[in-house]
Parts: sequence; structure tokens; C-alpha cells
Amino acid sequence: MMRWSLYGIGSVPLAAAVLAACSDDAKTNSGSATKSEKTAEDPVKKWWLEGNFAPVKKEVEEFDLDVKGAIPTALAGLYVRNGSNPSSGDSSHWFFGDGMAHGMRLENGKAKSYRNRYVQTSLYKTGADFGSSPPGGETNQGNVSFINHGGKLLSSGEVGFPYELSPEDLSTVGAYDFGGKLTGNFTAHPKIDPATGNLHFFGYGFTEPFLMYHVADATGQLIHSEPVPAKGGTMVHDFAITEKDAVFWELPVVFDMEGAVQWIEDPDSGAMPFKWDPEFGARVGVMPLGGPASAIQWSDIDPCYVFHGVNAHRDGANVVLDVCRLSSMFNTDGEFAGDLSLRRWTVDTENNKVRDEIIDTDDGAELPSRDPRIVGRPYRYGYFVQTRPTEGTVDMGGLIKRDYKNGTREIWDPGPKKHTGEWLFVPDPDDKGEDAGYLLTYLHDDTTEKSELVIVDATEIKKGPIARVAVPQRVPYGFHATWVPV
Ligand SMILES: [Fe+2]
Repeated sequence: MMRWSLYGIGSVPLAAAVLAACSDDAKTNSGSATKSEKTAEDPVKKWWLEGNFAPVKKEVEEFDLDVKGAIPTALAGLYVRNGSNPSSGDSSHWFFGDGMAHGMRLENGKAKSYRNRYVQTSLYKTGADFGSSPPGGETNQGNVSFINHGGKLLSSGEVGFPYELSPEDLSTVGAYDFGGKLTGNFTAHPKIDPATGNLHFFGYGFTEPFLMYHVADATGQLIHSEPVPAKGGTMVHDFAITEKDAVFWELPVVFDMEGAVQWIEDPDSGAMPFKWDPEFGARVGVMPLGGPASAIQWSDIDPCYVFHGVNAHRDGANVVLDVCRLSSMFNTDGEFAGDLSLRRWTVDTENNKVRDEIIDTDDGAELPSRDPRIVGRPYRYGYFVQTRPTEGTVDMGGLIKRDYKNGTREIWDPGPKKHTGEWLFVPDPDDKGEDAGYLLTYLHDDTTEKSELVIVDATEIKKGPIARVAVPQRVPYGFHATWVPV
């Protein structure tokens, strides 16, 4: 079946996530796994080792790169994107490779340098496979995202601690546990409150506490940690904040011990440690920003799955939350990944009801980005990659700019032979306009088998890139990026 697909391929970036909870118990409880149904994913084919999904073998660095067009001088900093790059050359899934940073430094209208470096996790250094020992703490692949906060560049593998990297040369400083204060997992999608500079984040697991909420102040000191009342162990990839609220979604992708056991015993089996369980229910929780989590108010919604929120804001008694919604996920009895749509959830916090509006169903919009200056505030624009209809793999193509105020959207399509990924919005520091900034991603051209960093003016996306920087080697498709200003 052809479908708009980013996730119709089997597992998830974060699937990684999970084994944290199955760990030792799962290993001693072997022999009961019966899950054998293969889905759209064919674990034998290993499409993630082919084409531009395949890992690169070398760490390289090059200076003063060739540029076509003009790099805006407002872009002064490091664009750095994470992804999965198995150092052994093999992995059981696209998402289970060692983290690799691909960093491009821009300054004074020039592309000063490009480097790619492994995130030197304990798994990378020992050459061990993910899942060969209980994930958690230092044991993760650090391969999903980067966060720039409190003077530190952190990679996140969703499970375990983040790893700190030097923004200068992308070398790995080491696992970072906030001075010993972080004892659980660190999400790949923390949120920085633009008013305070505080980092709000969470970690989820499959044993109690199922969900932990944390706050680090603008200097990076962990100042608050508490459990969030949750029904059980579910995959929680993202959350949202407003000026006053932290917003969680607890959805029926639940921990599956049987699948976890099989995954550990045979990583190539296609088994996953999650399953779709609509009977579990689905709900959105709104709690005061900064806590207490005990004050969280849950409102039921129809079963669905959401990897990524776009943004959220307060509107009186309502919390308005935009999401990329899948009608199901990990459903081995039906569509493995259901239909993707953009939704607006308006949470009435006085009556604990949610109005669910369909914003768009046609564009395959995922991997959302927004101006970091309006995180948690009323906003107008969201930016997405357009996923293309495909069969059993991932095809990320164009750039979508959605105008939530006017209900319109614009698309720049690079053509069928060119592929992109998450488009990171980097604001122009001298212009407070919401779309005053640039959208950055690595683009791969099937024809030339080369990669470029491309830069699009967010006010004029239909014009396409205003600058292209030739990258000295192929950049495999990856996940999330961040920007470190000079
Ligand atoms: Fe993500």
C-alpha cells in the first residue's frame, strides 16, 4: 500500500527508548515470545543500509566550503544534526545505529567548516550493539537529537543520559547527568521557555515512575524533578509548554514485554517493545509549568499516536495544542502506522474536554519546526518536511510552511530525486518577525549522490534555497538538529 509515510516503516527513532525498562527482567524471562508477524518492514532487506540511508565510514573535516548563492550574515553559528550511523556497518534498524553529528559552521557569509563525528557513547567505544546490555544511563546511542542549553551542546538518544559534545570540534565530552541529579531518562524533545531560558524536559520509562518531569534553569542547573501521575508505561516522544503549562499526551502505544523479549533475543526479528492498545485509552494532561505535577488535569481524546507537537499556547481557560497525529501506531493487527494528519487540540481546562480539529490531511507533514522565540506562545507559522508516498521506507522531500492564522500553506518541492529531512528554523537575531529567519537542512541528490546544506529564507520559501553549501561527503538521512549561535 502506498502511503504518506515517515513511520510506516516499522519502528521509531525512539524505539530505542525503551528497552530501558525491559532490561534484566526481560532477559531472564525468555522463551515466551510468539510475535512473528512481519509488517511493512522487512528486517532482512535492511533498506536503512542502502542508498543515502547507509552509514558513512569516515569522520572528515573540511574548511571554507564552496557556496552557491549567498549565506545571510545573520546566520552566525553551528548547525548540527544528529542521526544513526552504525559504526559496525550493520544495525537491526535505521534507528539503532551509533549517533553521528554532522556540523556546519557558518560565519560572515561563509561556510567555515564541516565536520562529522560519532557521539562517543559507551556503546560506540566498546563496539557493543544496542540492547546487548540494559539501556539507560550512559548506555544509549545518543543518536536522535541535539539540544543547546546552559552553555552545553547535548545529544539525546531518548533513553538514558544525554552526551555532551564540544561545539568547537564535535568531540564528545562525556555523558551528562546534570551533576548527578538526573537519575532517569532524558527526552529527545525538551523545551526551552523563551521568557526564562529554563529547560523543561521529561523522561519516560516502563516501570514506575512511568513519567518524570524536570526543569533546569537557564544556567543548566537541574532545579526541579518530580513524577507525573501516569496510568502506565507508554512511549512519550514529545511534549509541549505554554507560558503557564506543561502539556503531556499519554497515548496507547504501551510497553510490550513479550515484544521486548523477542527484540532482545533477536534484534532482526522485527519485534518491538511496544504495541498498539486502544483499550488503554488516550488523554492530554495539562499541569502548571514548573509543577506541581500532582495538579495535572487529564482530558480524554480518541485513541491515536503523536510523535511530535508543533507548538502550544494558552488562550484563557483553553490550551491550544497543534500536533502531527497518526490514527494508530505499532498496530500489528491492522495498519502498522495509521493515517497522518495535522490536528489542533483545544483543551478546555475548566471542563476537561478536548476539541479535535483536522487542520490538514494531505501533505504528509512531519518533523515540525517553529521559531524558538515563540515556543509556548500564540504563533502563526509551523514548518514541516513533506513526506512522500512510498513503499516500506521513508521519503522526505519538500518544505512546508503552514500559516495557522490564515489556514493556508506554501510548499517548496526540490523534485523527486532530491530528499531532505527536518527543516530547522533559525531566527534572524536582528528581526523579531515570526518568520524572520532561515530554514536549514541537509539535502541529498540521488543523481549526483552528493549532499548539500541548503538554506531557505522563511519569508519566501517558494523561491527555494538562497544558499547551498557543498558537503565533502554524503550526509545520510537523519533525525533532529539544533543551532548553536556564535
Ligand atoms: Fe522526534
